[in-house]
Amino acid sequence: MSTSQQYMEKGDKNFLHTYNRYPVVFERGEGMYLYDTDGNKYLDAAAGIAVFALGYGNKEYNDALKNQIDKIIHTSNLYYNVPSVEAAEKLNKVSGMDRVFFTNSGTEAIEGAIKSALKYAYTKKPASDYEIIAMEHSFHGRSMGALSVTGNAHYREAFGPGIGNIKFAKYNDLESVKALVNEKTCAVIMETVQGEGGIYPGKKEFIEGVRKLCDEKDILLILDEVQCGMGRTGSMFAFQQYGIKPDIMATAKALGCGVPVGAFLMTERVAEKSLVPGDHGSTYGGNPLATAAVLEVLNQYEKLGIVEHVKNLTPYLEEKLEKLASEVPCIKETRGAGFMRAIELDRPVGDTVDKAREAGLIVITAGANILRLVPPLIMEKEHIDEMCDILKKVLS
Ligand SMILES: Cc1ncc(COP(=O)(O)O)c(C=O)c1O
Repeated sequence: MSTSQQYMEKGDKNFLHTYNRYPVVFERGEGMYLYDTDGNKYLDAAAGIAVFALGYGNKEYNDALKNQIDKIIHTSNLYYNVPSVEAAEKLNKVSGMDRVFFTNSGTEAIEGAIKSALKYAYTKKPASDYEIIAMEHSFHGRSMGALSVTGNAHYREAFGPGIGNIKFAKYNDLESVKALVNEKTCAVIMETVQGEGGIYPGKKEFIEGVRKLCDEKDILLILDEVQCGMGRTGSMFAFQQYGIKPDIMATAKALGCGVPVGAFLMTERVAEKSLVPGDHGSTYGGNPLATAAVLEVLNQYEKLGIVEHVKNLTPYLEEKLEKLASEVPCIKETRGAGFMRAIELDRPVGDTVDKAREAGLIVITAGANILRLVPPLIMEKEHIDEMCDILKKVLS
């Protein structure tokens, strides 16, 4: 029995079975590549689900974490700590937002965003029946609040009724949002680019239209940039390409590049009427280790020009994927933004994911027929070529 098989058996015996894991045990990474416990090498086009933007083994990032471990890992939010103060300032600056709350995950960032919007409405006029408009086919996480605004009934089915007062509109259909607005609507929540739902970028007129609608009615616009943010689409946050700004934003995934951390941010206008001491908290949220990661991630983005790199290389990636689609008949469509791409097939993709892995490429799915490519943002032309060569072989 291989070493990997031994670990898989032990894991299956002990984990709660909430994941159908792929049969591979990763041990280490280097740049764009992962290695398993049997020594096999894989090109990574998944980045731990859109997380590891800097690739594996960035020395300065690793050193920043090691240094912080030697200083202090945790203090609680009863006190200030240096990395969280520095990271907060930097994150506000790159996002154009004013106030940040650090969380431990994306789903918690969404929880905080929802609470912030409800509190804003409550401060204006105390009531407990405010409504939120969310989008069909959206994904916002697995905690009860985030699940309640997730537009895939399958995920919510066994866990009803959720937080209540949530209505679902059609993504990229402004009229369907307008039709749900009433005097109780306090927020619209949506991904700027839908991820799990199949990689659908928000159309310009839709995002602009929702922003305008929210402005007219003093409804808060919450953008979920957990997956599409942090440079993935060629700007630090995807909304920055639309010339609009949300009132509240959620980010996570690449924010810590592997260290579990998320954040929700808001404008000063919202903060003035939203959460106050006693309304929200987290023991770990924004601890020195997590925010040392955020700080160094943001430093590395600047130093390596990550956002520019994604922007510059996107046309090449698009061109290569279009060429692939023209050569492989089972590809129905390719779409996406920046380094967040979908390859939609005319059949289920499960088999393709396995074959790709066996051929040395890690890809993930976004729905039954869709291959999702969310590689580390340090990907170069040679990696794009290698990825497309493997995909062509596997799909042909
Ligand atoms: C758009 C979006 N929001 C929220 C989440 C939840 O984030 P986490 O898994 O860190 O809780 C995800 C996770 O995939 C996501 O893609």
